[in-house]
Amino acid sequence: MIRRLRKSKSIRDLVAEAELSPNDFVMPLFVIEGENIVQEIETFPEVRRYSVDRLIEEVKVLRDKEIKSVLLFGVIDEIKKDDIASYSYKEDNVVCKAIREIKNKFDDVVVIADVCVCGYTTHGHCGIWNGDWVDNNKTLEVLSLSALNYARAGVDIVAPSAMMDHQVKAIRKTLDENGFERTLIMSYSAKYSSSFYGPFRDIVGSSPKFSDRKTYQMDYRNIRQALEEVRQDIEEGADIVMVKPALSYLDVIREIRNNFNVPLAAYNVSGEYSMVKVASKNGIFNEKDIAMEILYSIKRAGADIIISYWAKDVPDWL
Ligand code: PBG
Repeated sequence: MIRRLRKSKSIRDLVAEAELSPNDFVMPLFVIEGENIVQEIETFPEVRRYSVDRLIEEVKVLRDKEIKSVLLFGVIDEIKKDDIASYSYKEDNVVCKAIREIKNKFDDVVVIADVCVCGYTTHGHCGIWNGDWVDNNKTLEVLSLSALNYARAGVDIVAPSAMMDHQVKAIRKTLDENGFERTLIMSYSAKYSSSFYGPFRDIVGSSPKFSDRKTYQMDYRNIRQALEEVRQDIEEGADIVMVKPALSYLDVIREIRNNFNVPLAAYNVSGEYSMVKVASKNGIFNEKDIAMEILYSIKRAGADIIISYWAKDVPDWL
């Protein structure tokens, strides 16, 4: 009788296979220039843009709840954007300011910076546009400069998310040559071209102005290619690899877990979060129940690390 194992809550807890802990979570945070700013947008409920001063308060709240890792994204004024994303490697850009402030105030908080150019280019692509498509090697130069810029500001982990070939190799080389051998790389190795990124693009202002991301982000019909991306990233020096989005890609998470031994992160993205949030606000179901089911499924599939906009709520729910 297998049902004996479900007899009481305590027995169910005793035999539970997947566990969640605040240690598993990374909270994404959006940082905007200016002072005393906290902004919310309609498509992304309860996720906010913070100026650095207000971001620090948020990091304190998270840390008090034992959420000790944050992933930073810059929200940049349109006038600072250009074709070569030069603001992404400017020494005093808003992400660098946030990194310095957080590390200054809370040195035990793990600060991760997303390394991409879509929020810094006028056209909104994740690379340098050459009139025809995104130029891989030109983009590698910019990504390397940007990663180095964050390393100099004191970031713990850089997270390249542009899906350019050999981005890990280029960044590792630049970091090592400049004395940042201890800066980790968490690579968005298997990042799919997905419609689940909508709310994120609204909050960052990074939707491509023309064309789409299908020539660099992965085709959702493929899984073998994801394994190949991961293999290459590990070979090039990735310390942590990632699958993104998470929910429609649990099979990819499991397959990577079965084939590789580096820590594996899964990004429970903006659209996965917002659809639950909106449905819950409409009384269709209970947010906490659905969110926990989703988060446990990601853990059960084999993720070690979960990047989620629910990270802040999880400690209260556990
Ligand atoms: C940037 C980037 C994206 C996300 C994280 N980094 C989106 C994109 O490709 O437009 C998405 C995160 C989310 O939806 O929560 N390259």
